Amino acid sequence: MSKISIIGAGAIGATTAFALLQKGIAREIVINDINQEKALGEVLDLMHGSSLCRPCNVTLGTLEDTKDSDIIIITAGSPQKPGETRLDLVDKNYAIFKSFIPKLAQLSPNSILLVVSNPVDVLSYMTYKLSDFPKERVIGSGTVLDTARLRSLLGKYFGIDGRNVEGYVLGEHGDSEFVTWSSLMIGSIPVKSFSEQNSITWDKETETVIAEDVKNCAYEVIKRKGATAFAVAIALERIVEAIIRDEKTILTVSTLLNDYYGVNDAYLSVPTILGRNGIEKVLNIQLSPTEQEKFVSSANLMKEYIDRINDK
Ligand SMILES: NC(=O)c1ccc[n+]([C@@H]2O[C@H](COP(=O)([O-])OP(=O)(O)OC[C@H]3O[C@@H](n4cnc5c(N)ncnc54)[C@H](O)[C@@H]3O)[C@@H](O)[C@H]2O)c1
Repeated sequence: MSKISIIGAGAIGATTAFALLQKGIAREIVINDINQEKALGEVLDLMHGSSLCRPCNVTLGTLEDTKDSDIIIITAGSPQKPGETRLDLVDKNYAIFKSFIPKLAQLSPNSILLVVSNPVDVLSYMTYKLSDFPKERVIGSGTVLDTARLRSLLGKYFGIDGRNVEGYVLGEHGDSEFVTWSSLMIGSIPVKSFSEQNSITWDKETETVIAEDVKNCAYEVIKRKGATAFAVAIALERIVEAIIRDEKTILTVSTLLNDYYGVNDAYLSVPTILGRNGIEKVLNIQLSPTEQEKFVSSANLMKEYIDRINDK
């Protein structure tokens, strides 16, 4: 049982606190936001239901109150507005991160920092630099959400449980992400054979449509309800649980890569083993030449944004 702090009590922060409370995996949840009234409202609402969950103390906190956290989930910052890309948020959100990351790191020197705010890959890299933590303990939520979306959409397309889809979305959590179609399986059967066996259409065009749907999921939700919250909160709960329970679960979080298909010194999502120490291992996955190209161009785009910040 652990102490988890959440920085930012907006749509993502509050829904994640709810998901964590429901799962009963934290002893204490500290919620911090510059908008104290909004954060207090969320804390009270959660606290009122807490006697129906496993014991968990949900409190409103200052940065000091996050001291000795096991995991700090960072969701503070501007969200995407309709028509905005995740990368458009970089300057605003980096300025916010600079104001609290060094202090959070100093107060909880053994914690794991889980970055959620967008652009998550760029901000995870900057958090790694600002915190001076080992790379294993600075994690971006990455494409865990996009992979979940892929599995849900394919589950629906094939009329099966999405948990039986074995395949990933890798690269940037954003417009340059891609699906690992070349190795994607359903119940250990290559997707092409699975579709033939079940007389379901499967061709390049279907792949493109599904990959585009996965990529545009967030835009479709934001356009209608203003923000995404439930799916991302479930994804974050899954990451936190894998760490706290030392599950050694394979999840596509964003991590610092070195010598990975020629990519160095950039945060991007690849399959990793997650456990008590954060990133326990980065796994090498076989990518087709086209996927390799997409991976490298995703990395180049992230580096461009990092260089832009460093040049300022
Ligand atoms: N990684 C992912 O998969 C993923 C998915 C969805 C959204 N996001 C990102 O998460 C972030 C939050 O999204 P949201 O919808 O919850 O936004 P939101 O506007 O609802 O909440 C953001 C909160 O951050 C707070 N905040 C701002 N500056 C702060 C500071 N210095 N200290 C503490 N709190 C501060 C604001 O007061 C606000 O309550 C955005 O950047 C969004 O793009 C990431």
